[in-house]
Amino acid sequence: MPSPALTHRLAHPQDLDTLRALMNAAIAELQKPFLDERQIMSSRTIMGLDTQLIEDRTYFVVESGGQIAGCGGWSRRATLYGSDKSPGRSPALLDPTLDAARVRAMYTHPDHARQGIGRLILGLCEAAARSEGFSAVELMATMAGEPLYRACGYQAIERIDDDRGGVAVPLVRMRKRL
Ligand SMILES: CC(C)(COP(=O)(O)OP(=O)(O)OC[C@H]1O[C@@H](n2cnc3c(N)ncnc32)[C@H](O)[C@@H]1OP(=O)(O)O)[C@@H](O)C(=O)NCCC(=O)NCCS
Repeated sequence: MPSPALTHRLAHPQDLDTLRALMNAAIAELQKPFLDERQIMSSRTIMGLDTQLIEDRTYFVVESGGQIAGCGGWSRRATLYGSDKSPGRSPALLDPTLDAARVRAMYTHPDHARQGIGRLILGLCEAAARSEGFSAVELMATMAGEPLYRACGYQAIERIDDDRGGVAVPLVRMRKRL
């Protein structure tokens, strides 16, 4: 059977429970080839949903057969990564003439991995950021995310370890010109 066509729309607050469950599954399963169990547990502190993106109408969901199969968004605000609960967030608005827009919180349900959902959402984010005058995008990638972003033209600019969850989690800051 061919896979149902993918459709997309902006996320609504009513999607929150589904999005949280999808993110939990993606964090637990799709990071396994890249991190050990302690790192995956630690990564939960610095990953997850930032509901500001839904309020800002910059967060997308992709549906397959009427079910949410993936999500991700972009931001015109300074926070580079993390969830509502992550420390060090900043809602300050970026300047499109000086700053890079952010790509944020990209997750695909494990049942739908490697079907082009991440690539589709990245394209939506880049087009939206470009339409608001940004000429570059930046993100902080997990090891699970890095291959997607590389495949979509992003380049690594800095590697860090984030140990705010108790165990160091490797991350890479990446950038693309639009
Ligand atoms: C990162 C993530 C969103 C990718 O989603 P996805 O929908 O599976 O990605 P796509 O199907 O669009 O992949 C597009 C291309 O990226 C590359 N890619 C994606 N995942 C990859 C992987 N695990 N290994 C190698 N290459 C990968 C491939 O080139 C792929 O093209 P191909 O399948 O034709 O070879 C998903 O793996 C995920 O949810 N991971 C866990 C959460 C996470 O770490 N999110 C990133 C936060 S920065």
